[in-house]
Amino acid sequence: MEKLVITGGTTLTGEVSIMGAKNSAIAILPATLLCKGICTLNNVPNIIDVNLSCQILEQLGSKITWVGPNSLTIDNTNIYNTHAPLDLTSKFRASYYLIGAMLSRCKEIEVGLPGGCNLGARPIDQHIKAFEALGATANCSQGKINVSTNKLIGSNIYMDVVSVGATINALLASVFAEGTTTIDNAAKEPHIVDVANFLNALGADIRGAGTDLIKVNGVQELRNSVTYSIVPDQIEAGTFMLAAIASKGDILIKNCIPEHLDPLTSKILEIGGNVEICADTIHVWCKNRVNKTVVKTLPYPGFPTDLQPQIGVVLSMANGTSIINESIWDSRFQYTAELNKMGANITAQGKSAIFEGVEKLYGAPVFATDLRAGAALVIAGIVAEGTTEIFNLKHIDRGYENIEKKFASLGAKIERVVEK
Ligand code: EPZ
Repeated sequence: MEKLVITGGTTLTGEVSIMGAKNSAIAILPATLLCKGICTLNNVPNIIDVNLSCQILEQLGSKITWVGPNSLTIDNTNIYNTHAPLDLTSKFRASYYLIGAMLSRCKEIEVGLPGGCNLGARPIDQHIKAFEALGATANCSQGKINVSTNKLIGSNIYMDVVSVGATINALLASVFAEGTTTIDNAAKEPHIVDVANFLNALGADIRGAGTDLIKVNGVQELRNSVTYSIVPDQIEAGTFMLAAIASKGDILIKNCIPEHLDPLTSKILEIGGNVEICADTIHVWCKNRVNKTVVKTLPYPGFPTDLQPQIGVVLSMANGTSIINESIWDSRFQYTAELNKMGANITAQGKSAIFEGVEKLYGAPVFATDLRAGAALVIAGIVAEGTTEIFNLKHIDRGYENIEKKFASLGAKIERVVEK
């Protein structure tokens, strides 16, 4: 078993470059199934969820070659298997994208019910609603889903909840659907736009991605090759922004798209931190203890739920009492119990938590309860007095490439240790 051991009390300074977006990559990888030739993807994060996606695609017939540290080619000329490996697909959430992609490619697919971080109930009713609207039939039983169709026909899909996954799945399934599909109340996250840009680069006709009404005019075929670069990961960038604030540090974050981080930038300025934007870099620094605030997570362009635990660390040490209202997930405050072990004073109840700001955190053994909780604990360990050990690293490695190397390059005393 591995753990991260952090000797805290560090002020982070320096430069860090942002990887390609995890949540784009794990959607674009299955999206390549719509191409009957070779796709070259650049800026691909080398993380567990990407490697799992590649393993699953290979079992369907894809030939994948890493041609650089963050570049790969996928040859999907010969897709022969419509049964995705249940053990792998049930390990992470994004395996649901195989459904939309394989419906388009082969008109049928069987996958395990998606796994992923335990953030409370994670239904996929809106995905199923979209597939059925397009003319597919779905059966869920014994931990797996079978979806098939004779023909996909364009339709008007209204999402009852704003869902990133269901919006992307509806896009994937509608590219070849006969006629026009509209997706109303669509999610607007940067990775929705990225998936649409990738599909359009292949010859799809998708308009309006990034707004709440997306229109897809069905096409009969796509190009046989494309080279595409995945957008920078806004959540990794936000994690470093908040690490700069929590550690009263000074970090230049390179290779990011600053406007994707507008809600976080505004919050940082509001609590007394400093942010300076120049082209694709964000300079973040803070000298003093930050002020209390209220945060409410919302779909993009609201404050991202995937940065909620990281800002939770900042607010646990703010001057005064802060409140976070989590409106996306039922169970995203598990990290607060771990932060309380480090001296924080947080009371979480349901989807709200009250943060009584303390002056200092103290090192302790803690457990990453999910991906972003893990990132938050890394920040907490770096600023705490004394030594923090973080266990359960499998969550962190699912979504952050070289997290300890990146923080170490900013001055953190952090190492990965194999526990005997
Ligand atoms: C994506 O999850 C991300 N995961 C999550 O990132 C992120 O927290 C979430 O979007 C919100 O931004 C991936 O991209 C793989 P949703 P997803 O469908 O698509 C409800 C991270 O840390 N809902 O937008 O599964 C749902 O319960 C992770 O990187 C339905 O009710 O999220 C939730 O309350 C964790 N029915 C809300 O919608 C459905 O059919 C938003 O979920 C689908 C969703």
